[in-house]
Amino acid sequence: METADVVVLGAGAAGMFCAIEAGRRSRRVIVLDHARAPGEKIRISGGGRCNFTNLDIAPERFLSANPRFALSCLSRYTARDFLARIEAAGIAWHEKTLGQLFCDGSARQVVDMLLRDMAAAGAELRLQTEIAGLRREDGFVVETSGGPIRTGSVVVATGGKSIPKMGATGLGYRLAEEFGLRLVETRPGLVPLTFSGADLEQLKPLAGVAVPKARVRCGKAGFDEALLFTHRGLSGPAILQISSYWRAGQAISVDLLPGTDLAAELKALRGEIGRSAVATALARFLPERLARSICDELGLAGNLADQTKAALARLAARVQDWQLLPQGSEGYRTAEVTLGGVDTRDLDARTMEARRVPGLFFIGEVVDVTGWLGGYNFQWAWASGWAAGQVA
Ligand code: FDA
Repeated sequence: METADVVVLGAGAAGMFCAIEAGRRSRRVIVLDHARAPGEKIRISGGGRCNFTNLDIAPERFLSANPRFALSCLSRYTARDFLARIEAAGIAWHEKTLGQLFCDGSARQVVDMLLRDMAAAGAELRLQTEIAGLRREDGFVVETSGGPIRTGSVVVATGGKSIPKMGATGLGYRLAEEFGLRLVETRPGLVPLTFSGADLEQLKPLAGVAVPKARVRCGKAGFDEALLFTHRGLSGPAILQISSYWRAGQAISVDLLPGTDLAAELKALRGEIGRSAVATALARFLPERLARSICDELGLAGNLADQTKAALARLAARVQDWQLLPQGSEGYRTAEVTLGGVDTRDLDARTMEARRVPGLFFIGEVVDVTGWLGGYNFQWAWASGWAAGQVA
């Protein structure tokens, strides 16, 4: 039977990074993936430019049943460490906003860097390989479409459930259960929210309208980022971020003008443009289509000067404290990540090894650690892959 020191399941961000680290320790590493190409999510990430890390990594920017779990990996392998690799590879980069680092050129450069480093470290990549099973037998035996492989360490890096069209499967979760690890319920994260009924009727005609900065809140979480109206509801970074915190049945509140006191602004404008339609005045602050839609909804016809104080207060509340009840999300079809996953209570935070199954590791998105939008999820993939790669 073929043998290896380490078999990595999944040639995504975490799996490839782990393979490089283990290979550099002179371990014989084989990386298996059923896809035709490695790192497909890296390739399409960040609009093709890969938001490969974030300079403001902090544990509270990760969701997990145990938010402290990620700290060990994230503090030992930092955003600066990954940035140093990007620079050493000669990949030009820039900070877009909020600490988010992107390639100037193409995300493909990151995939190529990982492939080069894997080859240099002697790690072998086998694509279009199905994984039929995993059993313990003198170490582990991985059953694959190319035959069985005996190995001392298995690193599960098969990612989450999002975007099944790109090769996502539930394999990692199944393997975790087979080996007795607990799972935290999975659900789509960083995903557009959908609406029904009267809410949808209001939102649909606004599809395509963008608000550069809105404050979206759900429970204690809140984000000030761009918001986008879609045919089925709301999207844009602020909505994707809040979607990870939202649970079915919860309302979200939206302030379309954070940092502005709209009631006071409108009062001041009465003197200046009192004869203008309310919608025209509101369009000084919001996209025109949105301003008109809100005024129509509230029945605010007539001039700004004609409006009662109560009517303007109602308008300000509608703009700055808009309550909405999402009906659902676009689901795994478009979600950027999967929340939940392998329960961190069953993993060693330092090594990512299963506490009760020596030699079995889980890294990346399959684990119950999910970052905010903005490079956090790749940093988790690199950091957890790095940690496992030091010991597997
Ligand atoms: P990943 O999903 O990358 O890799 C898993 C691998 O396992 C895949 O190659 C898959 O084919 C393989 N696999 C799965 N099941 C298998 C099976 N049964 N047999 C064999 N192989 C199997 N994050 C970020 O930080 N910045 C960003 O810009 C973006 N942008 C972005 C855009 C889009 C559209 C998406 C969908 C996601 C992002 N993300 C992101 C999130 C990021 O892509 C994600 O968190 C990481 O890719 C997770 O890395 P993993 O290696 O854990 O899984």
